[in-house]
Amino acid sequence: MLNFELKNPTKILFGKGEIEKISKEIPKDAKILMIYGGGSIKSNGVYEQVKEALKDHDLQEFGGVPANPEYEILLEALKVIKDNNVTYLLAVGGGSVIDGVKFLSAAANYEGESWEILKKPVRTLEGGGMPFGTILTLPATGSEMNSGYVISRRETNEKLSSGGPGLFPQFSVLDPEVVKSIPKKQIANGIADAYTHVLEQYMTAPSSADLQERIAESILISLQETAPKVMSENFDYDAAGNFMWCCTMALNGLIQKGVITDWAVHAMGHELTAYYGIDHARTLAVIAPSHYRYNFETKKEKLAQYAERVWKITEGNIEEKAEAAIKKLEEFFHSLEIQTKLSDYTDHYQNTAERIEKAFTERNWVGLGELKKLTPKDAYKIVEMS
Ligand code: NZQ
Ligand code: ZN
Repeated sequence: MLNFELKNPTKILFGKGEIEKISKEIPKDAKILMIYGGGSIKSNGVYEQVKEALKDHDLQEFGGVPANPEYEILLEALKVIKDNNVTYLLAVGGGSVIDGVKFLSAAANYEGESWEILKKPVRTLEGGGMPFGTILTLPATGSEMNSGYVISRRETNEKLSSGGPGLFPQFSVLDPEVVKSIPKKQIANGIADAYTHVLEQYMTAPSSADLQERIAESILISLQETAPKVMSENFDYDAAGNFMWCCTMALNGLIQKGVITDWAVHAMGHELTAYYGIDHARTLAVIAPSHYRYNFETKKEKLAQYAERVWKITEGNIEEKAEAAIKKLEEFFHSLEIQTKLSDYTDHYQNTAERIEKAFTERNWVGLGELKKLTPKDAYKIVEMS
């Protein structure tokens, strides 16, 4: 097992009705800016619950953060923060709203051009960002319990990630009741995103970190078992709760400790969202199978372990099990009605591989993947296969 440090300061308030407790989590004298997305919180009762919980606090609002949070819009929120001497941010939404708030938390205390925060390795140190909490409305990204974020800039077709130890939420409310109003397409996205988060931290080389591997496999199996229940028309509170907690656990830092991690699927996937606006999770379903086929030799033992332990495949040698694993993964995405070919999403995919190779070369991303050996040319080939 590799050496590691682990500190996750986010307090989780899990369960029905927990939103009402946020008044105790935010200082009484805070000047709060509540930030939300396109308005789903106004039709599912979450907005009213937040207003009621914070009725004795100084609360302002900023709505309209879009999916794949857009830099230009976040700058408008930054102006509201600075003009009104806001001291506390409250994200109410999915990964996009939470990520937008993390960027704002970093930008609020940053002197200089805000985009630099993403372009250069400007990391917000512990205590460096404006304090914030979150109310999660869409289980998927794990952003509610980690310190990373991803911001898009349409003007330049870029989607970049950053983060740092100062950007953990102080608290996050996980009320499974919010799952009731989520469209099935977004639930499918959430499952696929969380599932791929586990794979990015697991589908590498065999390791001696037995516990992390077993936890990762448990999250994968739980997501597989929960998927049909949360995709069904009938709301099931316990299934929603399991789904939500799986998504959080998939990317709160725990399973990545002591192991090597990949994240190349996300790097390529972000480009597809930047170019074509494809939902984040769907870009992962497009890239992951080809990525595993392309890197078959280095990943085959882990793929075979995944086949055995997660899909209970006992027949065949390592190569056969590993190939069966990739097919199972594709079938799982298809069971969520998520397509796995780029051509399923856009007719203009012809130059995508060249574009990604060029973007990665310009950013000097010359060593992706768990072995830091994937070059922009390898990315080209993987995207060509997708
Ligand atoms: O904007 P509103 O009206 O709220 O609608 C949203 C949005 O249209 C809707 N929604 C959210 N909760 C709902 C709901 N609709 C009905 N009922 C509810 N309870 O769902 C739509 C999608 O929301 P969004 O926040 O964009 O989805 P998600 O949580 O999947 O976040 C995606 C973003 O997170 C980034 C992605 O790249 C993408 O930008 N990621 C962040 C990560 C992190 N911080 O750790 C890791 C991930 O790998 C990912 O990259
Ligand atoms: Zn993701």
